[in-house]
Amino acid sequence: MSSKTPYKVLCVCLGNICRSPTAEVVLRHFCDKQQLNIMIDSAGTSNYHPGKAPDERSQKHALKRGYDLSALRARQLKPQDFIEFDLILAMDHENLSNIQALLDQAHVEYGASQIRSKIALMSEYDQTYLKQALPDPYYGGVEGFERVLDQCESSSLAWVSIFKNSFQNNSSNNRSM
Ligand code: 4NP
Repeated sequence: MSSKTPYKVLCVCLGNICRSPTAEVVLRHFCDKQQLNIMIDSAGTSNYHPGKAPDERSQKHALKRGYDLSALRARQLKPQDFIEFDLILAMDHENLSNIQALLDQAHVEYGASQIRSKIALMSEYDQTYLKQALPDPYYGGVEGFERVLDQCESSSLAWVSIFKNSFQNNSSNNRSM
């Protein structure tokens, strides 16, 4: 990709300590592998865990696959994110409707011309988990954390394919995504 300005993607779940930090690091890994000029961040729709590191269980399971989540810190999704980010990825359908509600507020607050973000599910183009939720692992067992990693890897590969096609077919200033 020739653009110096990165395409910006924000991964969003409820707490920003389990699913979205995992999605952030896994998606970054696959984007970097393809040398895509994409900046990735994550946030939560809630403010349950501001400034906290990802859940120890998420960190442990991710590290077993080579993903280091330790430097991340939780933050809440804010209206300015819709100005800054090109794409906001919801981990489940409840996140999606909460993001949509905040986006509607941002439209009122900033005006449509300021809004940059499109919103979609993490699994939007994932043929294995098509439009399925990434189940919240917080109150469950170890298999939930492995499932999050499986889905993040699968959905990230699907997004990388979409990004590659989109960036190849469009000039840097006219991306279709
Ligand atoms: P996440 O998981 O949305 O994947 O970060 C959760 C983390 C914390 C809580 C719920 C879900 N909580 O209720 O504190």
